[in-house]
Amino acid sequence: MKHFINLKDISAKDLRKIIVDAKKRKNLRKKLSTLEVDKGAPLKGKLLIQMFEKSSLRTRLSFYLAIKQLGGGTITLRSNELHLGQGGESIADTAKIISTYGDGFMLRTDSDKKVENFRNHLSIPIINGLSPSSHPTQVLSDVFTVEEIKKKPISKLNICWIGDSNNVLDSLIAASVKFSFKLSIGCPKKFEPGKKVRDWVRKNNTKIFIYNDARKAVKEADVIFSDKVISLNDKINKKKKIEQFKKFKIDKKLIKLSNNAIFLHCLPRGEEVSDEVFLGKKSHVWQQALNRVHVQKSILLYCFGKLR
Ligand code: CP
Ligand code: NVA
Repeated sequence: MKHFINLKDISAKDLRKIIVDAKKRKNLRKKLSTLEVDKGAPLKGKLLIQMFEKSSLRTRLSFYLAIKQLGGGTITLRSNELHLGQGGESIADTAKIISTYGDGFMLRTDSDKKVENFRNHLSIPIINGLSPSSHPTQVLSDVFTVEEIKKKPISKLNICWIGDSNNVLDSLIAASVKFSFKLSIGCPKKFEPGKKVRDWVRKNNTKIFIYNDARKAVKEADVIFSDKVISLNDKINKKKKIEQFKKFKIDKKLIKLSNNAIFLHCLPRGEEVSDEVFLGKKSHVWQQALNRVHVQKSILLYCFGKLR
C-alpha cells in the first residue's frame, strides 16, 4: 500500500513514473469530454473518500474528476459534520470506518499530526491534500506543468519562488531535491525557510539559493512561482505580514529582469502579483490548475498499485 503524504518520502523514480503516466493519459483523452472514463477504467468500482477541514476549490474538483475519469467515484466529507469533528469519535475509529467503506482517503487538514494519525490507523492509502508542512499533489502537478510548457526536463531549468516560506514552498524544495533543479527563493529575511527544511536540503546534498531581494532572486529564472502571503493556517498579524512582503510583489518590471520567465501560481491569489502579470501572456495559471486532474489521476493509480 502506497501513501502520498510528502514528496520527501517518495522515490524520485516513482515521482517521475507518475509524471510520465499523467502525460500519456492526458494525451490519450484529448477527444474525451469531462466525465468520460479512460479506456480500461482502471479504478472501476473504487471509492475515494475526501475530507476537508479547510476550504478548497481546485483540490476538491480535481480529485472528483480524477477518480471519475478512472472509472471510480468519490464522496466528500466535512469533518465538522462527523462525530470526529464534534469530539465524539476517535481518529482510530473514524479511520477504521473509512477503511471499511472506501478504497482511498484524501485529507486536507491543518494538522500534520492528524495526517500521521490517520495513516497509522487506515488500512487504505492516504493522500495529503494540503497540510501545514506540505502540498505535494499541487507541486508534483506543477513540475508536470513546467515541463509541458517549457518542453524540457525541469532539471534543465532555473526555478524561482517569490513569496512566503509555506507548505507549497516546502513541497517545491522537496521537488527540487527529487527532480534535481535549481531553486532560488526571494523572500524577506524574517520569512526564510526554517532550520528543519534547510537541514533536510543540506542532508540531501542540494542547494537552495535564498535572496532577500526579489530582483536578485528572479535573475536567470525560467519559471517564477508565487503563492498567497497569508496561508490558511497563518495565525499572525495579516496586515503587518502583507506590508513586510510589499517589495516582493510580482509585477511586469520584476518579470522583465528574469530569463523571459513564465509565471505560475497555485491559487487562490492575493496581493502578491499584479493583475497585469497574473492575467498576462507569461502566466499559465489556468493550465496549471487543470493539470491537477491529470497528475492526480496518476497519483491515485500509484496509491492503488495500478501505475503502469
Ligand atoms: N491550489 C489549491 O490547492 O487550491 P484549493 O485550495 O482551492 O484546493
Ligand atoms: N499556502 C496556501 C496554499 C493554498 C492552496 C495555503 O496553505 O493556504
